[in-house]
Amino acid sequence: MPKRILFQFDCDSQPSSFDAVVAIDSGVDHLIPYADVQATLIEPLVHGAMFTRGGDDLKDTAIFLGGSDVAEAENLLRCVTDAFFGPVRVSVMMDANGCNTTAAAAVVSAARHLDLAGAHAVVLGGTGPVGQRVARLLIGDGATVTLTSRSLSRAEKVCARIREQFGESANAELIAAELDSPDDVAKLLTRANLVIACGAAGVQLASESDLAAVPDLAVAIDLNAIPPSGLGGVAVMDKAQPIVEGSRAVGYGAIGVGGLKMKTHRAAIQSLFESNDKVLDIDEIYSLAKATDRS
Ligand SMILES: NC(=O)c1ccc[n+]([C@@H]2O[C@H](COP(=O)([O-])OP(=O)(O)OC[C@H]3O[C@@H](n4cnc5c(N)ncnc54)[C@H](OP(=O)(O)O)[C@@H]3O)[C@@H](O)[C@H]2O)c1
Repeated sequence: MPKRILFQFDCDSQPSSFDAVVAIDSGVDHLIPYADVQATLIEPLVHGAMFTRGGDDLKDTAIFLGGSDVAEAENLLRCVTDAFFGPVRVSVMMDANGCNTTAAAAVVSAARHLDLAGAHAVVLGGTGPVGQRVARLLIGDGATVTLTSRSLSRAEKVCARIREQFGESANAELIAAELDSPDDVAKLLTRANLVIACGAAGVQLASESDLAAVPDLAVAIDLNAIPPSGLGGVAVMDKAQPIVEGSRAVGYGAIGVGGLKMKTHRAAIQSLFESNDKVLDIDEIYSLAKATDRS
């Protein structure tokens, strides 16, 4: 039985220790980390991985793309798949900075409490890698999404990119909004059933009283783990806790979502070795998160 080999390609000068631990805990026999990986270096690395084992054994070699630069990892994913020759390929997963597993776990956590189809969702700080993916998943499940940024033009650019992926059907459901002052947030949240805070670490985007005033709020999720919390009243460990005493709305903090994120990451690594042709990006990782949550 061939050993399971995972190549960890990381754009940073130190490959992520977090990704290394998850790989080993997912049953990888040999983890081979590469640092400072750039697009120009990818082809020979991928060819070395895919030309060494043949037939069914090819599924026991896989590639993980990580690092802190999500845009660069997205580019590397394109380079990896471009380097394959038809069926001569190995499975690959992209989760730079945890962007895919975090977004998928957040949306699956929300869906435990409300039907996303027809829900009004507000993605606060939605222009980063996690927020973009959260918005895309919510739109895909039929929610109406307001995506905020401190700059309307940045929010509009991200919304335009998401619309490109869904075509005209996303026009009505995706709204770009500027959120430049804490005074604006209450107005933006008026109709929200779901709020997911995806702002940078250590930035509060809505207060406890802002959330308490939203009449039809069902779920509030804060992905920031660094104080102050991104959503007032939602603590980092919260997992389906009422936001304020007696409230119908429940909150999840970053660690509250983190359990499912970790399980999803492990399930995704394990699934790489089921066949040699998987490309695990946001949609595939979302499907795995849903299956993991049901199991
Ligand atoms: N639990 C986990 O495992 C996990 C994994 C990954 C990420 N995270 C967390 O998830 C959140 C989103 O991650 P990310 O990588 O997408 O975040 P990010 O790119 O660092 O930031 C997201 C957005 O926050 C806004 N922002 C930055 N500084 C701000 C400020 N001072 N005030 C208001 N808004 C500000 C920016 O939007 P504009 O400039 O357009 O306003 C930015 O695009 C972060 O808090 C991160 O720590 C958690």
